[in-house]
Amino acid sequence: MKLDKDLKPKFSRRDFLKFLGVNLGIGTFYLSGCSKLLDGFDSKTNFNFEAIAVNTKDELVLPKGFSYEIIRSWKDPINTEELFGTNNDYLAFFELTKNKALLWVNHEGIDIKLIPDYQEQRLSVGGSVIAIEKKNGNWQYSNDKDLQKEYNCRYDANTPVAYSGAAASILGEYKGTLANCSGGVTPWNTVLTCEENYNFFPEKYNWQDFDERYYGWVVEIDPYAKRSKPIKHTALGRFAHENATTILSKNKKLVVYMADDTYDEHLYKYVSRDAYKGEKKASHLLENGNLYVAKFDEEKKIGTWELLDISDLRLSKVFVSQGELLIETRKAAKLLNATPLNRPEDIDISPYDGSVFIAQTQNPAKNDFHGSILKLKENDNDYEALEYSYEYFIEGGEEASLSCPDNLCFDDKGNLWVATDILGSDLNNGLYEYHGNNALYVIPLAGKEAGIPKRFASCPLGAEITGPCFSPDYKTLFLSIQHPGEVAGSKWPNGFEPRSSVVAINLN
Ligand code: FEO
Ligand code: CA
Ligand code: CA
Repeated sequence: MKLDKDLKPKFSRRDFLKFLGVNLGIGTFYLSGCSKLLDGFDSKTNFNFEAIAVNTKDELVLPKGFSYEIIRSWKDPINTEELFGTNNDYLAFFELTKNKALLWVNHEGIDIKLIPDYQEQRLSVGGSVIAIEKKNGNWQYSNDKDLQKEYNCRYDANTPVAYSGAAASILGEYKGTLANCSGGVTPWNTVLTCEENYNFFPEKYNWQDFDERYYGWVVEIDPYAKRSKPIKHTALGRFAHENATTILSKNKKLVVYMADDTYDEHLYKYVSRDAYKGEKKASHLLENGNLYVAKFDEEKKIGTWELLDISDLRLSKVFVSQGELLIETRKAAKLLNATPLNRPEDIDISPYDGSVFIAQTQNPAKNDFHGSILKLKENDNDYEALEYSYEYFIEGGEEASLSCPDNLCFDDKGNLWVATDILGSDLNNGLYEYHGNNALYVIPLAGKEAGIPKRFASCPLGAEITGPCFSPDYKTLFLSIQHPGEVAGSKWPNGFEPRSSVVAINLN
């Protein structure tokens, strides 16, 4: 099936109310990235703020009454020997005590103008663990030297890594994680950091002797165990992994929704073989399970999950083992006629009814310039289901007042937060001029403003907002401001040089 210009998302207020009306018994929720079950959910309590105007300032602009604090910026020290990485993306919050926590931070691509040195480039990607603490009601970077010594550390392109699953015996051990875009959190409190555009490293950054097979995986790291060895779980496939959104099924199996952020690539789902029994460590659930790819029926608005397994004759004709199949996941997906999507990006799960929301950024070759958000409903509300129905939740464009949705996150009131990723070269130009800089929107799912995107934040020049993440009490919003000055001109945040930074916004 192809998503072409005739397949237009049809979003109306009536559809939206239909969407709101459902509240069904679904799988077990726990903190998964940013979504969790809403105890005592009250649809009347929307998050109130005065939407900001379209903006082209070189600043992180917030609504009246809100301000931000910088947690860390590229090149800031995080301990006595390591520096905070560049291009911060996915954020995950790990509690230590009531007023102390760890923040996991992904570091995605590099700007070779800012970091021309190859060895420095290798040290600038991957991820960071940093300790934060709450003072006077605000979360900030912790200057506690003991805490820094115990936890703060970097993972980069030189860190030794191991592989699990069927491709592990082919790959052995290697070094490095890179292109870390979005991610997820497991029920046992480890982070899943996703290797996305690994191909940029040889193609755009000119890294020599780059063996792509070792990258493009979902990587598990325990942020509480300083410099513990990252495990790349090959059972979850190899592609430009945007994210790894986790949830437990009714039978307590671990289900992971994953998007391949490339034009005409696919949507995947992983289901663990065994159930989660509440163990403190359960990485084995990411080692044995089934990997599926989505096939959409555009006429009927339904779809099926196709199993990527070597027992399928269409696949065993081409691949000699499950390990080789996983290394070439995209090729296997195409042999099963998986549906090409318009650059699928982040995924989050609605606390209203358990629907799976999937951002598609755009696909100009298919006349999709503004992207959309899909809403997928598994049959019988069962995350292990092999069939689903779907609809378009929202279509990007001037009418919706947002283009190119990328990062998604639900808050405790069920509002959907959406960050846009218009390419730096397109920002404030032509079709995208109406939009101004990249921005963060709140889409209320209830009340008078239901379904209407409200602009909450506007980025510095050339930047995008990534990694939206709430503190467990939802009183603080952490954001990654990534690649200010990607095109030219930004001096955010320090007035002399663009530096990607993580910020905290007090929502009280
Ligand atoms: Fe790294 Fe798909 O955004
Ligand atoms: Ca993203
Ligand atoms: Ca993106």
